[in-house]
Amino acid sequence: MSGDFEQLWAELAPLGRNRTTGGYRRFSWGPADTQVRSWFRSAASARGLEVETDGNGNLWACWGAPGSVEAPRAPADKAAAVVTGSHLDSVPDGGAYDGPLGVVGALAAVDELRRRGLRPRRPLAVAVFVEEEGARFGVPCLGSRLLTGAMTPERAGRLTDADGVSWAQAMERAGLDPERMGPDRELLGRIGAFVELHIEQGRALAHTGDAVGVASAVWPHGRWRLDFSGQADHAGTTRLADRSDPMLPFAEAVRAARRAAEEHGALATVGKVRVSPNGTNAVPSRVRAWLDARAAEEAALHAVVEGVDAAARSSAAEHGVTVTAFLESKSPLVEFDHRLRDRVAARVGGEGGAVPVLATGAGHDAGVLATAVPTAMLFVRNPTGISHAPEESATAADCRAGVAALADVLADLTDAGPAEED
Ligand code: GLV
Ligand code: MN
Ligand code: MN
Repeated sequence: MSGDFEQLWAELAPLGRNRTTGGYRRFSWGPADTQVRSWFRSAASARGLEVETDGNGNLWACWGAPGSVEAPRAPADKAAAVVTGSHLDSVPDGGAYDGPLGVVGALAAVDELRRRGLRPRRPLAVAVFVEEEGARFGVPCLGSRLLTGAMTPERAGRLTDADGVSWAQAMERAGLDPERMGPDRELLGRIGAFVELHIEQGRALAHTGDAVGVASAVWPHGRWRLDFSGQADHAGTTRLADRSDPMLPFAEAVRAARRAAEEHGALATVGKVRVSPNGTNAVPSRVRAWLDARAAEEAALHAVVEGVDAAARSSAAEHGVTVTAFLESKSPLVEFDHRLRDRVAARVGGEGGAVPVLATGAGHDAGVLATAVPTAMLFVRNPTGISHAPEESATAADCRAGVAALADVLADLTDAGPAEED
């Protein structure tokens, strides 16, 4: 198994990597995305999986597609397919593992099932969801949201990137038809379970000393855009009292986010900001900032956002600036299907073995799909906990343990049996 994982990993590693920072810049529908999607098609085809693109741009590679020579003979129930996979897009200068571990791990798990002489008795598919990070168009998990109907095609089509290119235009330039976007109940109706393998984005497993854990829940989280508008002016001549400087309420909002997160046991981050006109010797006319907030409970999340909003408004009023807040995306609390979680944990923990079951503040396609199909997640230990950064890492041994655990889970869920019996 290790050879398969390592070979796949080595093929994917150089694609979309920035040589200066060492981080990945794989943005949906851009040149690096084209490369990783094409890598996935070849890797899946080389394994005899049939690859299809759904109307929303997500990729599906099926082992045992209906009508194929490998189609399982039983069972015939409609919601029979088991799907695994993750995403290949990245945040700006992201790490190698967030997303790719679940895609490479899924293909390696297919290899592992074959090596064990097993063939699934239910269709098994590997999925790659588009725009999971929302790095280019702002809304995370866009591919899975469109698939489940959590995002309308009309709104998605109008989302724009930093250069004003719309999602619909970018999709079209990549050779897809935006008219095909939208929920696919037929496809979702064929899925019996979705399992996503993912690097852990914290240090819980490093503390417990386990290579693999199972997810219990995804915290509620969301993204808010704050637009502060003032008056551009000369830095060397405008008296302080005459300024309408949007940078000041912006700075107050950043401090308020930290204070509110501390007060409510939550997380709040301002990681992206755009200043206009962005000149050293000019008071800015506008500051546009994005707040990312997350908490274990909705009430705490709400309190954080209210706290930031109130601080931004009061500081804006003090400085003669206007502020407008927009909700860009919101993901409610997700508790993964208890039966599936327990079944997965029993498989991963082995006989009498216990496996850590963790909630996460990170968003995932699994969290979106959980509204439509029974869903579970496996986490692989991250020794430093660092994620969304080039330093994100997992050991080769832990990745192998993750693949073996995923193969065990897939063998169980697909009722895999000896290949020669089919
Ligand atoms: C995705 O990784 C997110 O949690 O933002
Ligand atoms: Mn991520
Ligand atoms: Mn991810």
